[in-house]
Amino acid sequence: MAASLTIKGLSKSYPAQKDAVPLLVLESMDFHVPAGSIVSIAGLNGSGKTTLLRIIAGLESPDTGSMLIDEKIKTSSSGRNIGMIFQEVALLPWRTVRQNIAVGLELDERPKTELEDLVDDFITAFGLADYAGKYPKELSGGLRQKVAIARTLAPGPGVVLMDEPFSALDCQTREEMLSFLLKVWAKRQDTILFVTHNIEESLYLSDQVLVISPKPSRVAEIIPVTMPRPRDKTSLEFNMLRRRIIDVLRRLSEANP
Ligand SMILES: Nc1ncnc2c1ncn2[C@@H]1O[C@H](COP(=O)(O)OP(=O)(O)O)[C@@H](O)[C@H]1O
Ligand SMILES: [Mg+2]
Repeated sequence: MAASLTIKGLSKSYPAQKDAVPLLVLESMDFHVPAGSIVSIAGLNGSGKTTLLRIIAGLESPDTGSMLIDEKIKTSSSGRNIGMIFQEVALLPWRTVRQNIAVGLELDERPKTELEDLVDDFITAFGLADYAGKYPKELSGGLRQKVAIARTLAPGPGVVLMDEPFSALDCQTREEMLSFLLKVWAKRQDTILFVTHNIEESLYLSDQVLVISPKPSRVAEIIPVTMPRPRDKTSLEFNMLRRRIIDVLRRLSEANP
């Protein structure tokens, strides 16, 4: 079931290397991702986007701050019910497409037939029927990322984190994947926190774009995007919002050279 995600006062620094001072990456971040919505975080490279997602996923611990899922505070990584999709696809090379999609489901105690049915549903819905028996190395980058998305969504996570999932793909494949992701989302209404340095991608997908400052990062501006989907990237409204985000980012990097 899609859950909401709330982040309050989240800070993170990395310890000093040699004589240098500690690196403050995230500084008192606050934001809310409503259940069933797509919220993007747009920020320049090195601004701490991956660090933020790793903390939310429980792969790293914050210095301060709290995290709530469906308004309940989560302290340990267990029971967070979060799925994460990385920029570099991390499929298991020795498993077929079908077996990769099943990975997260095998941990649950569900009858084998139910598991098989669920995997079949994903294979069909994701257009992967011709590839079910193939191994990751036999697939294109776009197909691999589709398998990674299916694998992450199959167990039904409350919140899905996506860390620039399409930035390693060529332009055309990226376009296809963006509209594919929207189609999947329109049916399922997952809660998605999508991180990207690509402004167009964030505007195309999201209900809100959170623009973050360069390090130490905080949420500098929240931009609601109410245009109906699918969005026309050449429309006036789309480009006015794009201009607004570019201006915010420029202002932030001038203030923080
Ligand atoms: N494990 C680490 N130890 C020290 N510094 C790190 C570590 N991970 C990331 N950083 C630094 O934190 C900053 C933010 O990195 P990152 O979260 O990867 O940014 P982004 O994903 O926005 O490009 C960078 O300056 C990076 O060098
Ligand atoms: Mg990153």
